[in-house]
Amino acid sequence: MIRAVKGTRDILPPSSAVWNGVESAAREVFRAYNYEEIRTPILEEKALFARSVGQETDIVSKEMYTFTDRDGSELVLRPEATASVMRAYIEHRLDQRPGIQKLYYIGPMFRRERPQKGRYRQFFQIGAEAIGSESPAVDAEVIEMVIEILRRVGIEGSQLLLNSVGCPRCRPGFVAALRDQLKDVVQRMCADCQRRSETNPLRVLDCKVPEDQPIIDALPSILDYLCEECRTHFDAVRSYLDDRGIAYEVRPRLVRGLDYYTRTTFEITHGALGAQNSLLGGGRYDGLAEALGSRVPAPGIGFSIGEDRLVMTVEESEPEKRRHEIDLYIAPLGDAALRHAALVARNLRRQGLCVELGADVKLKRAMELANKLGARYALLIGDTELASGTYVLKDMASGEQRSATRNQLLDSITRNSDKDR
Ligand code: HAM
Repeated sequence: MIRAVKGTRDILPPSSAVWNGVESAAREVFRAYNYEEIRTPILEEKALFARSVGQETDIVSKEMYTFTDRDGSELVLRPEATASVMRAYIEHRLDQRPGIQKLYYIGPMFRRERPQKGRYRQFFQIGAEAIGSESPAVDAEVIEMVIEILRRVGIEGSQLLLNSVGCPRCRPGFVAALRDQLKDVVQRMCADCQRRSETNPLRVLDCKVPEDQPIIDALPSILDYLCEECRTHFDAVRSYLDDRGIAYEVRPRLVRGLDYYTRTTFEITHGALGAQNSLLGGGRYDGLAEALGSRVPAPGIGFSIGEDRLVMTVEESEPEKRRHEIDLYIAPLGDAALRHAALVARNLRRQGLCVELGADVKLKRAMELANKLGARYALLIGDTELASGTYVLKDMASGEQRSATRNQLLDSITRNSDKDR
């Protein structure tokens, strides 16, 4: 038997309805904040992520699905979308459009990680990027927007973690201090940290190895090294969040696993997720455009929600499975009835009802099936009904039966459904 590839999943009903629900909620919020959708390719050039996310990050050095195409080009399945959005921004000169470019995306990303609950090799993100402003007011609005998405889908009890990772002016001072302190302790750390302490000491702060944590906690804090501009920016973000009553915890170790970040970084965690507790992550990337070869600066900030984790949290907070509702199940008895029923069904579907038309079903089985499918009403159409032009509509919950002509059907179903709701 051929199975889904390790780390990938089929999203089946009824869960697929929850996926659609969170996506529509996110789209509504994006609309309210005037974000427009961007769809970028899943295939990108490998160099895009090496230059943006960073050669030394886990994502690029260990987790990318890379292959050489027949023409020799090095391609990857995108591991994230911020770099792609910035590539598209530069390629299509979106800087020439008026105002800040506010773009959102929903789609699959690929990272070859060790699969576990909440961690997949193909996973989905709902993300947004605001490109073209350095203002801390944009940071606060982006954070407010993502919290609004969580509120709309009914998630409670999440925690916002906030940090500033400085800029190319002040970060080197911090990295030098980090390197200096690491010299004395790195022999006691994991092999990855030993390598990172040489190549990219900031990445040591992302280490998840439990034994390394006390050592990392004692390392210098980036907040003590911020330059005047970064400090002012961070203070402004914090006070704009305070104005909105948005609670957060400052976490100086939150450097996040991607190299393009400058200044603000943030993450939202949720206890229901277990070990993979990061529901979403984001931050500012003021130098990303230049790193990708743009001569025009394009400071930006954005976030990506792990949609698999969002859906998991929603499903855990509402354990009763949302059932897809069928308004009407039609059971035709015989070929003439089936042909007639097809027209009745088409008409009601055009009016917006969800109708399941049975075929090849015996009368007794038909009612059983209507019940199992969770249909609200069932309609039997046989020779008598065809001849008389009136049908017997059965309310599946109460068992009550009522007769209706073809023209009365829609009215009978919707009137009673409104009463039920
Ligand atoms: P990230 O932190 O790499 O950031 O990913 C964001 C979110 O995607 C994570 O918080 C998590 O919920 C989800 N995620 C990541 N890896 C997996 C996985 N293997 N399985 C399931 N979910 C996963 C970014 O991707 C940046 N592009 C965020 C950003 C946007 N920064 C600025 N703009």
